[in-house]
Amino acid sequence: MSSLSNKSVLLGVSGGIAAYKSPDLVRRLREAGAEVRVAMSANAAQFITPLTLQAVSGRPVHHALLDQAAESGMGHIELARWADVVLVAPASANFLSGLAHGAASDLLTTVCLATTAPIVVAPAMNQQMWSNTATRDNIQLLSRRDITICGPATGDQACGETGPGRMQDPHELLAAVAAVFTTGGLAGNKVVITAGPTWEAIDPVRAITNHSSGKMGYAIAQAVAESGAEVVLVSGPTALAAPHGMRRVDVVSAREMYQAVMDEIDDTDVFIGVAAVADYRPSRNGLQKIKKHAERLTVELVKNPDILATVAALPNGPYTVGFSAETEALEQHAREKLMSKGADLIAANEVGFNKGFGVDDNALLLLDRSGSMTLPRMRKSRLARALVDEIIRRYAEHSGQDPRQAHRH
Ligand code: PMT
Repeated sequence: MSSLSNKSVLLGVSGGIAAYKSPDLVRRLREAGAEVRVAMSANAAQFITPLTLQAVSGRPVHHALLDQAAESGMGHIELARWADVVLVAPASANFLSGLAHGAASDLLTTVCLATTAPIVVAPAMNQQMWSNTATRDNIQLLSRRDITICGPATGDQACGETGPGRMQDPHELLAAVAAVFTTGGLAGNKVVITAGPTWEAIDPVRAITNHSSGKMGYAIAQAVAESGAEVVLVSGPTALAAPHGMRRVDVVSAREMYQAVMDEIDDTDVFIGVAAVADYRPSRNGLQKIKKHAERLTVELVKNPDILATVAALPNGPYTVGFSAETEALEQHAREKLMSKGADLIAANEVGFNKGFGVDDNALLLLDRSGSMTLPRMRKSRLARALVDEIIRRYAEHSGQDPRQAHRH
């Protein structure tokens, strides 16, 4: 997985000659793993066609504020909610002025006003326009509102002048977008995360397993890595590539997962058990395939070690977060697990047909000894970031740090 894996990037293109670089930017954002949607101003469409951007993004391009077809599908409010980050490149002087003054005069400014996602702008304009006091004031206003200003670069301009006003290079823009997700909330800490299913062999060709895809655990691992922690991801068999910036230890069975976690746990600060670990395994696993002569076959199961409970019981052990997968009485069962396993925090989710397992979204009920809160249904990547924010805050309180230091922005 790359630096922008699972990130939804809304690329805003405003009117300026640098708009001719937008298709390349879309391509690079997608290469970095992002899902990209493009919203362009009417003036931008004078420089580059929506069709080109549609072809490179693989998605319809949004340009009208009130477009009946768009509003019934991905309208401006949905677009604002969909984005994990909004990158406006190029950002013209006119667009920056509208953004600074809260304009909702076209799709792009309206989406920027309606989104809670971080905004990165890449100014691009004539050098004299960039130096004008009006633009300087607008930029100052935007910086004070935590909008990231990336560039402009200095050099030859399309208008024949030389100076500051060129759109920043794509690799700088990609780094600025990735930096939005990078926080220091867990810097200096080691976090061990389990993810995916386990497979418990019945014989050399058959196994008992479950529907875990690893998506929830991998998303959490990525969010933890973005918080600056050293991450060890102990993973059961999944089809997913390891997220960026972490060490992955591959295991198959619950006992292998238990051993891999114990090998890492001594210097671990936070443990998060997201794996769907098989509670039982076949007592015998012969070397040969079982033949189907008998009408009935009985497989005796024995209990697997409980990784979460073992970690939670360690003297001076890590801050311990467990999951609870339930088909009924979510809160009641989750609270029982909080107590019986001795975890510091339980993240409970409903599982079933098309719920929890395998799908791309989820909702969590967080429980600890002082109360509960809900993280509503959203994409697993975003839910993971919200959960990690909560873990950072609670872990900081637990370990006596100032939680304001540890919290993501
Ligand atoms: O992987 P996905 O397709 O994205 O699906 C995500 C998920 C539904 C698997 C995930 O959100 C989830 O709920 N994971 C926990 C699944 C589970 O095993 O829940 P449980 O209620 O049976 O176990 C409670 C806790 O004990 C879990 O933290 C589990 O990792 C841990 N456990 C269980 C048994 C065992 N022997 N050792 C353990 O550590």
